[in-house]
Amino acid sequence: MMTSAEIRKKFLDFFVSKGHTIVPSAPIVVKNDPTLKFTNAGMNQFKDYFLGNQKAPWSRVADTQKCLRVSGKHNDLEEVGVDTYHHTMFEMLGNWSFGDPANPAAGYFKKEAIAWSWELLTELYGIPKDRLYVTVFEGDKDSNLPQDTEAQNEWKKWIAEDRILLGNKKDNFWEMGDTGPCGPCSEIHVDCRTDAERRQVDGATLVNNDHPQVIEIWNNVFMQFNRLKDGSLQPLPAQHVDTGMGLERLVRVMQGKQSNYDTDIFTGTIAAVEKIVNKKYTAGDSKTDISFRVIADHIRAISFTIADGQLPSNTDAGYVIRRILRRAVRYYYSNLDYKQPLLFQLVPVLAEQFQDVFPELQKQHEFVAKVIKEEEEAFLRTLDKGLKKIDDIIQQSVGKVIAGTAAFELYDTYGFPVDLTRLIATENGLTVD
Ligand code: ALA
Repeated sequence: MMTSAEIRKKFLDFFVSKGHTIVPSAPIVVKNDPTLKFTNAGMNQFKDYFLGNQKAPWSRVADTQKCLRVSGKHNDLEEVGVDTYHHTMFEMLGNWSFGDPANPAAGYFKKEAIAWSWELLTELYGIPKDRLYVTVFEGDKDSNLPQDTEAQNEWKKWIAEDRILLGNKKDNFWEMGDTGPCGPCSEIHVDCRTDAERRQVDGATLVNNDHPQVIEIWNNVFMQFNRLKDGSLQPLPAQHVDTGMGLERLVRVMQGKQSNYDTDIFTGTIAAVEKIVNKKYTAGDSKTDISFRVIADHIRAISFTIADGQLPSNTDAGYVIRRILRRAVRYYYSNLDYKQPLLFQLVPVLAEQFQDVFPELQKQHEFVAKVIKEEEEAFLRTLDKGLKKIDDIIQQSVGKVIAGTAAFELYDTYGFPVDLTRLIATENGLTVD
């Protein structure tokens, strides 16, 4: 079985063999783009090349990018830990072509991007072809966008037609944010169910249907437009390729696991938590198991973001980190019966695991652990009172709704981010006004 490090390396080596330069991950914290707080996709650092504001120094690059999807257009926070395949922070493997009208041969477009993703997945990684599905953009009349027949025809060279599915704007037209580069995309999905399950229900009907074993692993975006503030689409000066494959999902497929948390990316952290709290992770849906997953996920986001220069605070990007951290604290405090700072103890485990690919954490692990410990201590000082308070509020609330004033008091006096209040409300069958 390949390790996650070998799987990551195989991706990068493959694209080197196709003429790509490997570049480092950009910091997870974005400082120079008012439309973004955090890197949410591998392409963020290349935005100006797509828009034609700057000329790219290379025509083909590949990398593994630290991404965070907890705010803005791409936000997976509510799913994290409850399911087994969404994360706050994840690694996005990507390859890019920056089109240059003056030198078209240097770049590539749909034909090569599609052929290479197929070659890598089926030949180098050996994923069985009969477990793969692809989607292409069906077009959108309102936006005057045609069906992507070009991508469809390229796929027909490689995969049976009944495995090429059409998808709508939501799934098959990728946009970085409310404005910015965008274009039709083609996703690759893997069906990880057992043979018996696959015989019973056609996998094609489960694509893009929130099935935990039929998941998207790779998205090939064909960048052709800039979304302007007024909502209109302006054609870009050149066409580009932007792809993103979730490493954690790929590793899970390659290691034959049912859950991302059963791969070697997370098992080290989970084992460390088991030791600290003296409880076992059993990969189920109990509150205990969800808590293990939340902690194993959140500590990565918190540690790498602090290592990249964003301290937890009460505003903007800093508050996003504080929210993630407090969410994790509440999970161990309430569900793992652990009442002291826990997260900071996991930093050395992560720092060692990622020292070759993201050495920035190893270099600062003592500082990062100290910041996290202080944050944990501060929140733990009011958490118990806050939890009693929210219990009272839940008992007294009228019509299954927590009033806005109560949510504000929890925030203001007890340090409960509103999404934590919402989470506890949901667990009790309530909503928050
Ligand atoms: N930018 C594309 C995505 O994030 C590849 O899915």
